[in-house]
Amino acid sequence: FQPKLLSGKRVLLTAGPTFEPIDPVRGITNLSSGKMGYALARAAREAGAAVVLVSGPTALAAPYGVRRVDVQTAQQMRDAVLANVAGQDVFVAVAAVADWRVANVSTQKLKKDEDGKAPLLEFEQNPDILAEVAALPVRPYCVGFAAESENLEQYGAAKRVRKNIPLLVGNIGHQTFGRDDNALMLFDAQGHSDLPRADKQTLARQLVREIARRMLQH
Ligand code: C5P
Repeated sequence: FQPKLLSGKRVLLTAGPTFEPIDPVRGITNLSSGKMGYALARAAREAGAAVVLVSGPTALAAPYGVRRVDVQTAQQMRDAVLANVAGQDVFVAVAAVADWRVANVSTQKLKKDEDGKAPLLEFEQNPDILAEVAALPVRPYCVGFAAESENLEQYGAAKRVRKNIPLLVGNIGHQTFGRDDNALMLFDAQGHSDLPRADKQTLARQLVREIARRMLQH
């Protein structure tokens, strides 16, 4: 009898984009499909973990056996993560969280101006959810993602240290959004290694093995 890799473990993930409102019918979002985060949630559950997936708006169905918490904005995502983080063994931040939200959200639908004047949006910075979890006094094993368009080797290693996390996963190339495949570079305190291009579900299973191995040594 071989116990599953993450039997008895609890895994919390974020996935998908966030949606930041401008007015009651408009907003700002990004091209994240949620596929990588959902694939990881599915793989973690297959490996025996109890999985909570905090998800921005996506077109995907919740993987079997995974508890999904639906949110729209970065602030809602942060609140849902902090409400669920106690007792988690692993936190994987896969979501493409908007860096800024609109500061002057209109409670009414913005109207076109007679003389063609466009509305002026002001922005304020969103909380960094991963950094906040990584700074908790009792924290889960934290895994971050990075989508750098160039110099991934250099930026990835630096980002892992800056975010104060044991493992950072870099998307190789910036063409991953919405695709079914991906190629990853893993950064930890020892250096970096590659997970060559494959479909996201295959990569997710490999990544769960990489996380489980490191978490147990941690
Ligand atoms: O700093 P950067 O946005 O490149 O970091 C990406 C990593 O941080 C991802 O794991 C992402 O999910 C997480 N993140 C977050 N909250 C933010 C911004 C990024 O959790 N506001």
